[in-house]
Amino acid sequence: MALNSGSSPGIGPYYENHGYQPENFYPPQPPGAPGSYAPYPALYYPSAVPQYAPRVLTRVSTPVISPRPKPSSGTVCSSRTKKALCVTFALAVILAGAVVAAVLIWRFLESKCPVAGIECGSSGTCISPSLWCDGISHCPSGEDEDRCVRLYGPNFILQVYSPQRKSWYPVCQDDWNDSYGRAACRDMGYKNSFYSNQGIADDSGATSFMKLNASAGNIDLYKKLYHSDACSSKTVVALRCIDCGVTTQTSRQSRIVGGANASPGDWPWQVSLHVQDVHVCGGSIITPEWIVTAAHCVEEPLSNPRYWTAFAGILQQSFMYYGKGYKIEKVIPYPSYDSKTKNNDIALMKLQVPLTFNDKIRPVCLPNPGLMLEPMQPCWISGWGATYEKGKTSEVLNAALVHLIEPWRCNSRSVYNNLITPAMICAGYLQGDVDSCQGDSGGPLVTLKSRVWWLIGDTSWGSGCAKPNRPGVYGNVTVFTDWIYQQMRANS
Ligand code: ARG
Repeated sequence: MALNSGSSPGIGPYYENHGYQPENFYPPQPPGAPGSYAPYPALYYPSAVPQYAPRVLTRVSTPVISPRPKPSSGTVCSSRTKKALCVTFALAVILAGAVVAAVLIWRFLESKCPVAGIECGSSGTCISPSLWCDGISHCPSGEDEDRCVRLYGPNFILQVYSPQRKSWYPVCQDDWNDSYGRAACRDMGYKNSFYSNQGIADDSGATSFMKLNASAGNIDLYKKLYHSDACSSKTVVALRCIDCGVTTQTSRQSRIVGGANASPGDWPWQVSLHVQDVHVCGGSIITPEWIVTAAHCVEEPLSNPRYWTAFAGILQQSFMYYGKGYKIEKVIPYPSYDSKTKNNDIALMKLQVPLTFNDKIRPVCLPNPGLMLEPMQPCWISGWGATYEKGKTSEVLNAALVHLIEPWRCNSRSVYNNLITPAMICAGYLQGDVDSCQGDSGGPLVTLKSRVWWLIGDTSWGSGCAKPNRPGVYGNVTVFTDWIYQQMRANS
């Protein structure tokens, strides 16, 4: 239901899907403001584990009770020498405590970079903001030069961060070529992937650009870029690192809960993630080696990559026993995922062997910042989850049309009463009937915009399935785009 299909950002009732926000930009919201009204019933908290997931018990913990000798009170510090010993011991304990406290305080202060600086990841090292993105790596793992390029908006405009002006600028097409495009893709975390490099008319209304100094010799790309108010080609670089978000299928049926069977090639990025031959979660292909899923899918004891196998390009579960599964090399849950609140419910899986793309196996696009979504943007969900609440996993892949539900509405008292954080996004229908359900977790919530399919969410939680005022809740992938690129880069 398009409210405004124009494309100029900043006007109209757009819902800006924020990306590239520092994590502490959004303070964690307590579930239900204390004192204002009765806290939300515990029933509505998502369960800490996917309810259908077969739990692989790796160990059984039996409490060990070891008998301890009883100290005979009053006699310990009685004699003089013993008293002296006691005093020395007490002093030593106090001293050790003070040292530990001092170290902790020092670490705390240092990690916050109190004297104007930016922290290198979470290493505790601080560097001056002027050294950020200057082409020289100062951080222990080079984080200061990590995030200096990004793709912006639905047209994949390449932007470079200018540390002097503290802002992102589009790159002027003048003197740009494919080898620079490849370098930028590599810097973003695409291993050997490059798809297209195009000069397009800039529709962002930018009056300042980053320009290439072609005569600067064979030095680093970022050292060749300089700030300029002129761009003679009047076009900016639109860079695609991977041919993502395209399908061969054009017609889709919406007949999950309230959905319809999918046809081959409809959702080519959808994967089924198995543990011991059982479908446990869904996932989405973003590159030949990387899959996005939910962090709650890979909670202990399922965090070990050896338990998992991914199936791609197959619609029926029964065919997966014969089909080729892909072993997982790495499982990376979002570091501050909270299993109680389901905040930051996203994880990455790296395959041991890269996928070969074809009509049935293709990647979906990661959402660029500046991808303006409408408040009720139509989206699709897909998965092998239950087709009714408390039902079994489905044999066939299902898909359904849903629409985004704005955060304020989803957080209203009659819906999820402030359980929705900025790292979550709601989608579905407040009247119920159509929804994702148990077994769909980790799978995609996608939308079609500018003729490309974008991964907007990963299925996370909901209270029951398809109930009125209880829509599906998804990880807000745009918030994690930056983290995903960082991980791809660091684990390539
Ligand atoms: N947590 C569920 C899973 O592990 C997904 C539930 C989605 N629920 C919903 N009502 N949309 O599969």
